[in-house]
Amino acid sequence: MIVNRWLDGFDVRLRPVTMDDLDAMMTWVNRPEVTQNFARLSRAISREEEAQWLHRTLESDADRLYAIEDRDGAYIGNAGLHQIYWPARAARLGVVVANQQGRGIGQQTIKLLSAAAFLDHGLHKVWLIHYRTNTRMAHITAKLGFAFEGVLRDEYFHQDGYHDMIRLSLLDHEFTRLRGSWGL
Ligand SMILES: CC(C)(COP(=O)(O)OP(=O)(O)OC[C@H]1O[C@@H](n2cnc3c(N)ncnc32)[C@H](O)[C@@H]1OP(=O)(O)O)[C@@H](O)C(=O)NCCC(=O)NCCS
Repeated sequence: MIVNRWLDGFDVRLRPVTMDDLDAMMTWVNRPEVTQNFARLSRAISREEEAQWLHRTLESDADRLYAIEDRDGAYIGNAGLHQIYWPARAARLGVVVANQQGRGIGQQTIKLLSAAAFLDHGLHKVWLIHYRTNTRMAHITAKLGFAFEGVLRDEYFHQDGYHDMIRLSLLDHEFTRLRGSWGL
């Protein structure tokens, strides 16, 4: 199991999110530097709306949502497997490092979340989309070895208009090849 485990060389672990994490999540759901990366969060979100979203997500068989936690037990952000399509064993990765950005935690989280997808949940494929302008995410996914799948033209509509999204993915056998170099 990857979830709930401390792995050597990792500063964070993943643990299942609960409704008790709502207040921690509210600290970032309306912060523009985080939310500008997500279509769902392109307008102000109330605590009630976020609570409903969290409740639905925790109940859903198409989502597995984790908190990123440091070794002091502090909440750092969320990491999720979403839109899980069980017949194909495919899921969309979502990551938010709300606190302590730029310290390698995003990369560690994507490694752990991919490992959870393939090892804990037996998935075949993980994919993600990011704004073309999210060069940090582009750098990280290229560095980790995700494969470029294509450009989704005008996929999202934000206040300032339509935006292209970049789609990338990783397959289970690619994870198996890469995991040693990831320290897993
Ligand atoms: C994207 C995100 C998950 C990255 O997490 P993080 O902990 O800040 O990232 P890390 O510290 O692990 O890695 C950042 C890497 O990007 C590089 N980087 C930082 N800013 C960059 C930029 N503007 N352009 C290109 N690369 C950049 C860093 O140098 C580092 O790479 P390195 O280790 O090779 O030096 C985090 O910033 C975040 O949650 N952003 C808002 C939400 C988001 O965009 N989520 C992803 C949507 S798909």
